[in-house]
Amino acid sequence: MEPIRILVLNGPNLGVLGRRQPEIYGERTLQDLPGLLREVMGDAADAVQLVLHQSNSEGGLIDRLERAVEEGIQGIAFNAGAYTHTSLALADCLAWIGIPCVEVHLSNVWARREPLRHQSMIAPQCVGVVSGFGLLSYVYAVQAIYRLHVRDKAGTER
Ligand code: DQA
Repeated sequence: MEPIRILVLNGPNLGVLGRRQPEIYGERTLQDLPGLLREVMGDAADAVQLVLHQSNSEGGLIDRLERAVEEGIQGIAFNAGAYTHTSLALADCLAWIGIPCVEVHLSNVWARREPLRHQSMIAPQCVGVVSGFGLLSYVYAVQAIYRLHVRDKAGTER
């Protein structure tokens, strides 16, 4: 069986993970993700292929999402960083591309001090949100997308 291709897309300031405010975002980097995925999913990790991409710009993220359609990407784990809270352009993009997307955050955005972080422009266009588990948030998002596809194939309930 072909692996399910999942885009792990990261927005601004997430390319410096591990160095950026580790007390909030943790010490692990995105390079640690494949290993962590295997630790949690075991052999089922072979059924997913991760495509990692990070951009600091809103346009760069939209370009990557559009490209995902052409490439037949089957799911997106998307940490849009601060654009989560502000970007109608990203929400508009997710609204048409038709690829199941899970919104991801390392921190628990609802436990953060700034009220703006409690809002998401993109959540209404996503199948769900994972927030607060550090790098594991991505793993749970990937697992959720994997389960969605397995369920679709088997035609069974979640
Ligand atoms: C973040 C939370 C956002 O509010 C913040 O702007 C980020 C990271 C997170 O992963 O916790 O850049 O998306």
